[in-house]
Amino acid sequence: MDDRTATEGQGERITRKHEFDDGAFETVKFARRRAGYYEGLNEMIGLGYSTADYLHNFPAFVGQMTLWRSLTLYELYKKTIGLAGHIGDVGIYMGASTLLFGKLVEIYEPESLTLVHGFDWFKGSFGQAEDRLLLPSQTYFEDEARVRALVRLQNLDHVVKIHKVDVVTEIDDFFQRNPTIRFKLVFLDSGTYDVTSSAIRAFWPRITPGGILVLDQFNNEVAPGETRAVTELLPDLKIETLPNSWMPSAFIQKPFAGGATA
Ligand SMILES: C[S@@+](CC[C@H](N)C(=O)[O-])C[C@H]1O[C@@H](n2cnc3c(N)ncnc32)[C@H](O)[C@@H]1O
Repeated sequence: MDDRTATEGQGERITRKHEFDDGAFETVKFARRRAGYYEGLNEMIGLGYSTADYLHNFPAFVGQMTLWRSLTLYELYKKTIGLAGHIGDVGIYMGASTLLFGKLVEIYEPESLTLVHGFDWFKGSFGQAEDRLLLPSQTYFEDEARVRALVRLQNLDHVVKIHKVDVVTEIDDFFQRNPTIRFKLVFLDSGTYDVTSSAIRAFWPRITPGGILVLDQFNNEVAPGETRAVTELLPDLKIETLPNSWMPSAFIQKPFAGGATA
């Protein structure tokens, strides 16, 4: 996940939210930009803009890495237009990716049956020792009711379906109860081995050929378990990246018989 900020309220200083420790490689590639970024952010807060100003003019304020994360998801989503299947979002947190996909579906295919299925257990991310080398023991906790309210208040209930599911222990049961669901895009954003491997086992067979599996932290030291799960379960597939994207760091287009995937 990204280098999000914590703000306790209007007028307070924004500081780096401690979501991971710095390692030696990917986590520090852009570290030289951090101090200037937060300095500018806090000066901007002092300019007296309102919450409505931030929302309605968000590109004027949002950091380029945060912006580019959304643009990456948009670019990958665009690759799937015309393919049959829903969007799967494994790991909702506050809904940034889930609601973005919901809005993209509303904009680009409003008359289709495409849905966005978001999966989360709403307990935050834990992981095994392997996953916690650079992560605190619990991160990304968000209240389910608040996320459901965000969906409802933006009139997206008909597109965005929130499923409270432990992806490690309950996803097979979910698909037994819902056997028809197929996906054209699945975004894996838990970063941990157990969730990523369970999700690949459950979702990959349900991705339409030509569809895309998006990996938030493949080959990133912050999530060794994600890289291991992909390497073990999907060896020998072409793992691509958008050259100007940091997170998500990779995607795999599901091959189809007799055809190139590009
Ligand atoms: C990094 S956040 C997702 C961020 C979101 N995709 C975004 O772009 O803002 C990871 C999420 O995975 C969820 N999660 C962790 N372990 C899980 C599990 N076993 N089953 C379901 N969700 C899980 C956490 O509750 C958390 O909300």
